[in-house]
Amino acid sequence: MSQDGKPRSRPVGGDDPPSTPDRTATDGESAVDETLPLPPYPPNLGHPRLHFLHQMRDVYDFGEKALLTRDVIRTRLPGEGDVYTLAHPEHAKRVLLTQREAFEKSDDFSIAFGEGLLTVEGEEWRQQRDLLQPLFARDSVMDYADGMVAQIRRRSDRWSDGDRFDLQAELTDMTLDVLFATVLGRELALDGDHRIRRAAERLHDWFVPTSYLLPRWVPTPARRRFRAGKATLQREAQRLLEEKAGDAPTDPAEAEDLLSLLVGLREAGVTDSGMLSDERLRDQMVTIIFAGHDTTTTSLTFAFWALANDPEVRERFHAEVDALDGPPTLDDVDELPVTERVITETLRMFPPVYSLPRRSTKTTVFDGYRVPAESRVILPIRAIQRDARFFDDPDVFRPERWDGDLRGELHDFAYAPFGGGPRICIGREFALLEAKLALATIGREYDLYWLGENDPDGEPPVSPEMTTRMETGQEFVVVER
Ligand code: HEM
Repeated sequence: MSQDGKPRSRPVGGDDPPSTPDRTATDGESAVDETLPLPPYPPNLGHPRLHFLHQMRDVYDFGEKALLTRDVIRTRLPGEGDVYTLAHPEHAKRVLLTQREAFEKSDDFSIAFGEGLLTVEGEEWRQQRDLLQPLFARDSVMDYADGMVAQIRRRSDRWSDGDRFDLQAELTDMTLDVLFATVLGRELALDGDHRIRRAAERLHDWFVPTSYLLPRWVPTPARRRFRAGKATLQREAQRLLEEKAGDAPTDPAEAEDLLSLLVGLREAGVTDSGMLSDERLRDQMVTIIFAGHDTTTTSLTFAFWALANDPEVRERFHAEVDALDGPPTLDDVDELPVTERVITETLRMFPPVYSLPRRSTKTTVFDGYRVPAESRVILPIRAIQRDARFFDDPDVFRPERWDGDLRGELHDFAYAPFGGGPRICIGREFALLEAKLALATIGREYDLYWLGENDPDGEPPVSPEMTTRMETGQEFVVVER
């Protein structure tokens, strides 16, 4: 296993990269030799014009087959043209960190979410990030711990022995409860607020496969659903803004939720740019609702799937959470190593954001192949995190692989469920805290057993939409402990 970070050819397949010297180290500075070859289309994927069909049928299988022979490949998407996939951690490092000026976010997100942190670029992004970063730093996020546990228990306390439900749907409600309570300062009704819950779900409709195949202006049913959902959430954000205006504490230490904090900062005149305008705050809130609940939901769903599947891991997990005096509190957060590793390993095998899209602004060279300016570029996070060059038995769920110093030994970008470089997920600490508290709170009271069947290769049925999700309708049964 090579962890030196140097691109090298894949262990299987027979295609050698071209004999041109690898210029990866200097690509950023030097003029690119335009005669360098483009990466070939993988020969095992059929005619490029049919790539999208294969991709729509099974995006993981498509990616795995495409990447069998090399780390840099080219595939084709109708309406987009060629797409360049860069599948080595060193490539991810260049795109996200060392050569990031040559890659920008693709415009799918900005069209969908306006001027929120997820989408903006340049100085605007820097200012927004500087404003929000302290609010998402570990110390600030820890203040939400009790509120998170209260929301988690409010829902899970209602479960009883033998209940069966679609766990992903139930956890979607739970993570939305947590996000609204901590970020927007609004407690959602346990069995109500369907309008908001449906609207949050509809944000994903922007990213259904047909969106990639039809021009942006075509009003597909999915796009109409997206727009309706976004409008509902914007109205709700506006209502909350008006409610908080004049009432938000100007001392940040007194704010109980993120929105009050931002409104308080505005009233204290902390910034005179438009960053805290109603419109910008609305975009920011919708962005955070989109980015901040589905990702945590899917992580938790797969973590429970893994615990149900693996009695040994489950036993260690139980021993740890049963040793707590009661439901986890802030003081317990750093004392849950097994729980933490279950989450770390879940995010390796099932990264909710399974690939990161970018658009190249300059021509660059990867492994001797030319990636032209203005191309769609993909970093396949899931494929990198399941690459046998970096992880032994990569398709096996093994939280204990993280017991030693694997992180220290790995290439920095071989494990990147939250992305990397300056645009690394701002909600990382929030998500990890919530996932840990939810797993421990629920795990003390219940086992959740999945009633479905794994694929022949031992994997759960997955539906890669915008995020990696378990297929809809997968039932789990509750067993009280
Ligand atoms: C397990 C849960 C989560 C995962 C796996 C995850 C993953 C990611 C990834 C991969 C990115 C980078 C996207 C890119 O570079 O294109 C990102 C960015 C972002 N995430 Fe998360 N995320 C999670 C939870 C959250 C939460 C809880 C929030 C907010 C409460 C959040 C808010 C954001 C925002 C605002 C950005 C954009 C940051 C920027 O561009 O500066 N995420 N997330």
